Amino acid sequence: MVKRFFITLTCLTCFLFFSFMLYAGEAENKKHPFFPSLINTDTGKAVKSSDFESSLVCSGCHTEIYKQWKGSMHSNAFVDPVFTALWKLGAKETDGLTDNLCGGCHAGVGVVSNDLTFKNGEFQTSDIAKEGVHCDLCHTIKESSSHKTPTNEPQNASIVLAPGNVKRGPYKDSESPHHETAYSELHTKSEFCANCHQVFHPINNFHIERTYDEWKYSVYAQKGIQCQDCHMMPVEKAIEAAKTLKRPKNPGKPCINGPDRDNMFTHEFVGANFTVPALLGSEKHAGIAEARLKSAAELKLMAPQSSKPGGMVTVNVKVTNIGAGHNLPTSLTEVRQMWLDVRVTDKNGKNIFSSGALDAQGNIEKDSRIFNAYSVDKDGKHTVKPWEMTRFEYNRTIPPKGSAIENYSFLVPKNTKGHLDVKAVLRYRSYPQSVANFLLGKDAPVLPVVDMAAKSLKININLD
Ligand code: HEC
Ligand code: HEC
Ligand code: HEC
Ligand code: HEC
Ligand code: HEC
Repeated sequence: MVKRFFITLTCLTCFLFFSFMLYAGEAENKKHPFFPSLINTDTGKAVKSSDFESSLVCSGCHTEIYKQWKGSMHSNAFVDPVFTALWKLGAKETDGLTDNLCGGCHAGVGVVSNDLTFKNGEFQTSDIAKEGVHCDLCHTIKESSSHKTPTNEPQNASIVLAPGNVKRGPYKDSESPHHETAYSELHTKSEFCANCHQVFHPINNFHIERTYDEWKYSVYAQKGIQCQDCHMMPVEKAIEAAKTLKRPKNPGKPCINGPDRDNMFTHEFVGANFTVPALLGSEKHAGIAEARLKSAAELKLMAPQSSKPGGMVTVNVKVTNIGAGHNLPTSLTEVRQMWLDVRVTDKNGKNIFSSGALDAQGNIEKDSRIFNAYSVDKDGKHTVKPWEMTRFEYNRTIPPKGSAIENYSFLVPKNTKGHLDVKAVLRYRSYPQSVANFLLGKDAPVLPVVDMAAKSLKININLD
């Protein structure tokens, strides 16, 4: 009798739970017709992919801007092999739930035109959607719907598109023979980028990527320095902006037959990804990413001036985020790898201590100091599949203008003479080799590494 009561209760609870989920899903669907993506159109209805113009059309007049964008990660957003590998896995493992979720940010036109299909293991869509995050997608964004999202934060493509003849941008006085123009304050602010640069799990609302939030509570936001001031500026100007905390200027001509402008924003949109642009043939974008990485951090190495054979030495390495307007690293912190490689050798070059070396399989040796986040599923098991994530077990990224200090201790061997050389290098790789192998299979390249900063010093060994 008691047993039957509990079975009934369990069934009732299940029923109520599923009804609630259905109800919640329906409510979200009404507010967000392309749910789980929060992307929308100004009519709330699907549009045709032919309502958007190809970037090639824009290139006729905005020639420089087109050249900057072509080869950027925005132009690669649909064809990026690392993204597509994970997207396809999601399609299989979630029965299609992630198709629109990922598509909304990586190929928005495909989602709002209901023109994204997964057939024979491949995603298909229109040519214009394959252009990824392209000119006409960004310049027909009319507003953000961040106030209507489940967390009231910009997230999961919370943008409203109004495709058509009006191109929205930063000028109040522009005229074009090809299209109408409209001033959009949103385009001049970090809040514009935030809609796509914050990824939340659509069911449990866990914030997987939160670059905008990291920026919002930083000194850069206090000083009015926007994402655009670093990522839509030549790299030297971005470095200057981080140093002086003043907004940069970049005079130029945004259209071959238009006027000179006091300020023109460049369109390479480079962050830290030097791996995929190089794989897809843009050395230019890969080179800028390297330059940005090399400007992002500063190392300080602290150790006693001298020690003796048999003595215990502790070395401190301080890593400061001097150049990134958000945490270092940011966004996919659960796969990006920034780590310290610390070596101590004697005067003959013999290894005394090492941390952070790569083994023959390309794995970083155990117990190294890696600055990243450790993502786990509902059972606390490590996962890099976004649809399984429920939380980070830890997040060891470095906030804007903040630092991390790592200590290394070792014994000076008894027979040491002369001095010891200590060298610390801050290294960066887009993914662990094992993740690249898992996603790209036999096509996986040996991942390149960028050395972001390095410092060395000597410790004298005295015999007394
Ligand atoms: C809110 C918008 C948004 C959504 C939704 C989204 N992404 Fe992304 N994705 C981004 C942004 C922005 C980046 C670039 C961040 C960076 O490179 O640091 C990115 C980068 C990636 C990368 C790294 C690519 C590389 O070359 O290193 C992978 C992999 C990826 N996304 C997979 C997915 C998958 C799979 C989904 C769906 C489960 C998804 N994304 C959903 C915005 C989104
Ligand atoms: C026939 C030439 C031509 C073509 C083609 C063209 N534009 Fe323009 N566009 C212009 C001119 C001229 C301006 C004004 C420039 C100025 O005032 O500095 C302009 C201005 C803009 C602006 C700034 C609007 C503002 O007020 O801030 C945006 C955004 C823009 N174009 C986007 C696009 C996009 C996207 C495409 C392709 C779909 C495109 N344009 C195609 C000529 C063109
Ligand atoms: C990720 C979104 C995005 C993409 C993709 C994009 N733009 Fe822009 N564009 C912007 C933003 C944001 C600004 C304004 C920056 C500011 O003023 O702070 C801008 C500014 C402009 C301007 C005004 C001049 C300038 O450079 O400041 C023109 C013209 C323009 N874009 C054309 C284009 C064309 C043509 C393409 C494709 C080749 C393109 N945009 C792709 C976001 C984008
Ligand atoms: C419509 C969604 C969308 C908007 C709006 C958008 N982005 Fe992105 N962005 C993406 C996606 C998706 C990627 C990643 C593509 C990939 O890695 O496959 C990306 C990649 C990038 C990267 C390259 C990251 C790397 O690892 O090197 C930078 C930098 C970037 N975006 C900056 C910006 C800035 C600045 C703005 C605002 C002016 C902006 N984005 C607006 C979707 C968007
Ligand atoms: C003060 C300059 C500055 C500002 C402001 C800034 N960034 Fe960055 N960003 C950098 C630098 C430097 C890097 C390269 C180091 C790194 O990965 O953090 C970078 C990297 C990135 C990456 C690639 C991360 C990765 O590991 O793949 C993305 C995406 C990005 N920024 C987006 C944004 C967005 C969105 C904003 C605004 C909310 C923004 N950035 C504001 C300087 C800046």
